[in-house]
Amino acid sequence: MAITEATEQDLPIIRDIAYRTWPTTFGEILSPAQIDYMLNMMYSPDALTAQIKDKNHVFLLAQETDNNEYLGFISYEFDYKNQSKTKIHKIYLLPASQGKGVGRLLLDKVAMLAIERANSHLSLNVNKYNKAIQFYERMGFATVDNETIDIGEGFLMEDYIMEKPLIA
Ligand SMILES: CC(C)(COP(=O)(O)OP(=O)(O)OC[C@H]1O[C@@H](n2cnc3c(N)ncnc32)[C@H](O)[C@@H]1OP(=O)(O)O)[C@@H](O)C(=O)NCCC(=O)NCCS
Repeated sequence: MAITEATEQDLPIIRDIAYRTWPTTFGEILSPAQIDYMLNMMYSPDALTAQIKDKNHVFLLAQETDNNEYLGFISYEFDYKNQSKTKIHKIYLLPASQGKGVGRLLLDKVAMLAIERANSHLSLNVNKYNKAIQFYERMGFATVDNETIDIGEGFLMEDYIMEKPLIA
């Protein structure tokens, strides 16, 4: 498996993985209308381009080396809100690629980069009902707060904020 940094040319791959992963991830948590709304808000070509070009988000892609299939991605931002924290904005693996250690590899890679950057914590938001919470706990994250974000059109994101301290 290879982990590479995505360029603007790779944005359709990220969009494709998100559209194939969100229905199973959020099908029992969010309405179909909210899933459509959030995918469009976060993964439209313009939104993804802005994340890379204007918002300092970096995307890493996980790729199977045997057949070149893309398995998933993670995105992160160093020095989030001028704090010594690296924010994990997104981590999504195709359903068939979950539970095989790829998520751990992507998270470990970002933790290593964050330590090199001298950031002291990883931080992320996760939906309160997402099974990924157990994954994050296993990876050393703990819940530090919760947050309800009004994303418009009457939709809310009801999240926990989880953090992991980093030791160099
Ligand atoms: C969440 C996600 C990124 C985790 O990646 P993954 O490759 O499936 O997880 P890994 O196989 O690397 O698991 C790492 C460890 O966490 C544990 N773990 C993973 N998911 C778990 C779960 N739902 N419950 C309990 N433990 C879990 C594994 O057992 C493993 O522990 P071990 O190393 O001691 O055996 C992936 O499953 C995914 O893309 N899910 C759907 C999208 C999603 O919810 N993204 C997060 C949005 S905030």
